[in-house]
Amino acid sequence: MKLKILVGTMTSTADYVAQAIQMDCADLVSDIEVQLMDGLEINVFDNAVEGDAIYLICSSTYGQGDVPDNARGLYDSLDAQPKFLGHVRYGVIALGDRTYQQTFAFGGKKFDERLQGLGAQRIGEIWCHDASAGTLPETEGAAWCREWLALVLSSASNAETA
Ligand SMILES: Cc1cc2nc3c(=O)[nH]c(=O)nc-3n(C[C@H](O)[C@H](O)[C@H](O)COP(=O)(O)O)c2cc1C
Repeated sequence: MKLKILVGTMTSTADYVAQAIQMDCADLVSDIEVQLMDGLEINVFDNAVEGDAIYLICSSTYGQGDVPDNARGLYDSLDAQPKFLGHVRYGVIALGDRTYQQTFAFGGKKFDERLQGLGAQRIGEIWCHDASAGTLPETEGAAWCREWLALVLSSASNAETA
């Protein structure tokens, strides 16, 4: 299985989380790729057709609950060039700050909404990190991802035996 982590970030926190996952989860998944969302469009999900790729959206939140600037192209393309993504399995890490009460972690949540709308299948719950909590997103994110990958792997083996 290949894990592809797509990173939406303004000040690199989401990138550090993705890199921590890449190092920490190498024993669970041999092939982990971290890719910034810059320049990406909906066809980034075409890879899922080729093999058993799983995607992890790792995005922070800016403005009034918007996706970061580097994620805008990909996010918009899910709306502007829609296609059925029923073959895509994904998880979401949504970084935010609870002091923005009305829009907490909306960047990741907005990706989730659009992906669900195109038929993609989210595995597990969205994991949110609150920057105002004073906890380390890299450490917590990597720990969450280990549990999430266990869920992904068990859902894959259940599907094989079904
Ligand atoms: C100008 C600005 C606007 C923000 N807007 C929101 C927001 O609307 N909702 C939210 O949950 N977090 C918001 N945040 C918090 C960031 O999403 C959070 O600090 C995140 O960890 C940053 O990750 P990054 O370094 O990968 O961009 C905002 C931060 C800044 C500096």
